[in-house]
Amino acid sequence: MMDNLLRVVALASLAPLSAAEKADLYGAAAPATLLPRHRRDWDYCTANLCGGAERLGALLDAGDLRELGPEGADRINDAVRAYGVVVIKGQNLTRAEQVKFTRLLGEPVALAKSFYGKDPEPNQPSILRVTNFWANGTWKGTSHKFGDYWHQDGQFWDAPKPVWKSTSEPKHNMLSIVHAQQVPPRGGETGFVDMRAARATLSAPLLKRAAKAAIHASVREIKDFRGGDEEDFAMFPKVAVHPLLANHYVDSGPLLYVGSPHMKVHGLETPEAGKRLLNMLLAHATSPAFQYFHAWEAGDVVVWDNSQTLHQSMPYDNDGHARREYYRSQARIRPPAVAEL
Ligand SMILES: *[C@@H]1O[C@H](CO)[C@@H](O)[C@H](O)[C@H]1NC(C)=O
Ligand SMILES: *[C@@H]1O[C@H](CO)[C@@H](O)[C@H](O)[C@H]1NC(C)=O
Repeated sequence: MMDNLLRVVALASLAPLSAAEKADLYGAAAPATLLPRHRRDWDYCTANLCGGAERLGALLDAGDLRELGPEGADRINDAVRAYGVVVIKGQNLTRAEQVKFTRLLGEPVALAKSFYGKDPEPNQPSILRVTNFWANGTWKGTSHKFGDYWHQDGQFWDAPKPVWKSTSEPKHNMLSIVHAQQVPPRGGETGFVDMRAARATLSAPLLKRAAKAAIHASVREIKDFRGGDEEDFAMFPKVAVHPLLANHYVDSGPLLYVGSPHMKVHGLETPEAGKRLLNMLLAHATSPAFQYFHAWEAGDVVVWDNSQTLHQSMPYDNDGHARREYYRSQARIRPPAVAEL
């Protein structure tokens, strides 16, 4: 609102977009380069998950990421802002190389040690192992899952006001970067949904109701982090408050910001009314029209913007034979170029 009126964001765009190209971006400012989407044919999609999203899953050729420089990183950041999810194929990064790549995109986010099933990657605090085998090589068993519900990473970080002052950068705007080294033969997709599209297509009554409400996120109430240590919980705000109707940090485009099904929603008549609104918004946002399921191949690097997407990990045959070996890192989204009027 007021914050966003004060922001002027300079983004280089080469040619004016056609009406259709503009509509596909759902309020994201135009990227410097228009990209094709990574899509399978519909035959593939009858047996596998694909989804019908227009915007998510842009395919970017960024060369060998081990040789990326600052300009290449800016190109990737611009594509991720405009398309929400960007797919970079054919990479082979060590954990140290992934951390170096992450640092080029933005400030890496170190993880709380006790979260995510206590399976740290030796000597790499910014790497989360998304695998069905422990670092020592033992199978974790069938029941080991994380992130198997629609959520955003980072919503439990706060956004101190005023956000346009560089001394108080919002911390919840973050990128996630996942690199697949080994993939199971079937299933195991990562699903994404488009929260710019969800906002752009929300009905007027729901828009009006959502305008009154905010999510209250606490790291203690998030399913994957239950069982964390007190010492780690203490690093996070007790509660982070985010309005359901938000704007993108870099280009100010409208977003729906829901966190996950575990959020409390304040601002309506009762907490139950808040929960009902959250469930309606989640049902709308997770429609097939806004979904992109990424079917992993070894060597893929996928970079996504958590402020404008939800994601979910999908099941696969985890029988102790097929190895799923993905590595995740995170970076804070770089502050926009800002001029105060
Ligand atoms: C490997 O690590 C896991 C988790 O810490 C542990 O439960 C398991 O016993 C270890 N296996 C071996 C062979 O050391
Ligand atoms: C990456 O390189 C290592 C070592 O050279 C090799 O063993 C592995 O198969 C490669 N992985 C991919 C996904 O190309």
